[in-house]
Formats: sequence, structure tokens, C-alpha cells
Amino acid sequence: MGEQPAQAAPRRKALEVMKGERFEVPPIWMMRQAGRYLPEYRATRQQAGSFLDLCYNPDLAVEVTLQPIRRFGFDASILFSDILVIPHALGRDLRFEEGRGPLMTPMEASDIPRLDPSRLHEHLAPVYETVRRLREELPPETTLIGFSGAPWTLATYMIAGHGTPDQAPARIFSYLEPQLFRQLLTLLADACADYLIRQIEMGADAVQIFDSWAGILDGESFQAFAVEPVERITARVHAAYPNVPVIGFPKGAGTRLETYRAETGVDVLGLDWTVPLAQAKRLQARGAVQGNLDPLRLLAGGRALDEGVDAILRELGDGPLVFNLGHGITPPTPIAHVERMIERVRAKA
Ligand code: CP3
Repeated sequence: MGEQPAQAAPRRKALEVMKGERFEVPPIWMMRQAGRYLPEYRATRQQAGSFLDLCYNPDLAVEVTLQPIRRFGFDASILFSDILVIPHALGRDLRFEEGRGPLMTPMEASDIPRLDPSRLHEHLAPVYETVRRLREELPPETTLIGFSGAPWTLATYMIAGHGTPDQAPARIFSYLEPQLFRQLLTLLADACADYLIRQIEMGADAVQIFDSWAGILDGESFQAFAVEPVERITARVHAAYPNVPVIGFPKGAGTRLETYRAETGVDVLGLDWTVPLAQAKRLQARGAVQGNLDPLRLLAGGRALDEGVDAILRELGDGPLVFNLGHGITPPTPIAHVERMIERVRAKA
């Protein structure tokens, strides 16, 4: 969508890797790269008031998205927002409490028919404005990644009303109310697809679907709740934008990663840190992978960090690889460790 003629446009390395290109040095970004480990994020966050005010304020959301790009020069930038703006846009209440994470009124079966997608784009207009401005303000070589939650992960928070260790409320709901639960996932999948397509219209180069709780599902449920809804989203995104890569991140999927790419149609597999590098290498033979350093190696630093980085570069470094963490960076991580990781990746010979 840029104004520049094609030959003058610098290459977007992360985007090219997502499409299967290989580079000597892999592109790098971090999940949760705009976050509390950065003093400048904490300062803007304080200015915003609540976390949601930050998500819905384009001036501030653009600012925090750009902070890690300015500081570290990552190859990709991820829109600053939260996956739970979708349930919020569908009429569920949402707030974030300091130290407790997201809080919503737990959803009951009778609430499902009342979910209202008619105001989705109106509610999310500030997020679209953030994407539009980001594409203008980011360095031209930086890949801009949009995102949404996956329907299953969104449903777990909507049903429990808060984070839980095992998502028991949503799993029980799915067993007791199978039809309504499918209806919920389909509605969420369509909302996510509409949302991602609009982000791409506004300038996102690629989109990531976060299924943070995919790993907790039993075999039958994994197919119905983690594969089919993501396939529905990916098909709609690809129908609208065949050349825009979709990154799937089914955290904890384990052996089910083997068929995930083929069954959902995602272009890039996001790998969490539990995926063995030998398995990752097999998955990489069929397309780009993203990951998968344990965020706690980054927190620990020193040898644990160096060895983790080196192992990924050794096994996966010839690409196509988007170097990343296996989940979000945690708030106590020292900035010096992030710098060390980036230097080590970029020093790859
Ligand atoms: O930099 C980025 O990665 C982009 C921004 C982003 C956030 N959340 C900002 C955020 C992204 C991509 C997300 C995704 C998200 N949100 C997921 C999927 C990825 C994952 O972590 O598994 C999930 C499950 C959520 C829901 C959510 N949001 C939870 C459970 C929490 C509380 C946990 C926590 O870290 O506090 C949030 C809050 C949240 N989302 C924060 C940030 C920077 C911290 C809140 C704060 O600043 O006070």
C-alpha cells in the first residue's frame, strides 16, 4: 500500500521468511515485546490509566508498539492490543485488574444467542486507526503483524471470566452444551476473520492467531475447537488476501503440530518452547516456523540464554525461521538479556 515504487521499497525480511524465503541471519521479534519489562512502556501505561484505555487510544497504542522497535530494531512489530477486545466488541464486559489479569462476567449458555457482532468494526475502530498509523510510522523494512485470539482461547476467558490453570469451566461447558459451544466458536471465528481482514486492509503485512490454550484439549476436542475454527478464519483471510501470511500459534499442541499446518491452512507455525528442535526441524521442512526460545532462558540470561539461542540457530537457523520466544517475555526480564539475545542472533555466521 506504500507510495514508493516497488524497486525502491526495502525488503521486509520477516515477511519474506513467512513466505518461505531463507536468509543467512534470521529475522527476530518477541511476543509481548511491548510490555512491562520496558520502563518506557510502564511510563506510557501510567499515563493511559487503565490497560484497556491504552488498547483503545491510537496515540498511546502506536507509541508503545514503536517503543521496542526504537530500542532494539526488531525486524517485526506486533500491533499493541489484546485478544480480549473481540469479546468486548461482542458486548461482554471486560476489565484488567492490576496483578490479576483480565476479568469478565462469566458467560452462561443463555448469553450466547445475545452476542452481537453488528457493532464489531465500530467498537474496534481505534485499533484499525492504530494499525493505519503504525504502517505510516514504522521503518519501511519492519514487518507489521496484526493479530487475534483463536476462538477456543477467547471462549475460555469468556466462560470462566478470568484466567484459570486448566480452563476447566470452558471444557465442562463444551461437554455439557456441545451445540451452543460450536455456535459460539463459529461466531468468534467469523468475528476474528472480519477483524484480521480489516487489520490487513489498514496495513498489516501478516497476522498471527494466538491459541494459547490449544494444548489443554483432548484429541477429539482439539480437532473441533482448535483446528476447525482456525481453518475457518484462515480460509476467509486467504480468500480476501491470498498473499498475506497467517501465523498459527497453538501453544502446547505437541505432536498435534504435525498436521496443524495442513489442516488449518496457516502459512507459518508458531512453536512454543516445549517443542523439541528435532521436531521443529521436521516441521520446518514443510514451511516457515517461528520460535521458540524459552522466555525463562531469556530471564535467566548467561549460559542458559546463549545455549538456548545457539541450539535454535544450529537446528533451525538456515531457515525459513522467524526467531522468537516460545511465549511472551515476562516482566522481570532484564533488558540487557534482550540485547544479548539479539546480538547473538545477528552475529550468526
Ligand atoms: O507486544 C505484544 O505482544 C502485543 C500485545 C499483546 C498483549 N496481549 C498485550 C498485553 C498481545 C499479542 C496479547 C495477546 C494475549 N492477551 C494473549 C495470547 C498470548 C498469550 O500470552 O498467551 C492472551 C491469552 C491475552 C489475555 C491477557 N492479556 C492476559 C491473560 C493478560 C494478563 C497477563 C499479564 O501478562 O498481565 C493480559 C494483559 C496484557 N496484555 C498485558 C500486555 C502488555 C499486561 C497488562 C499490563 O500492562 O498491565
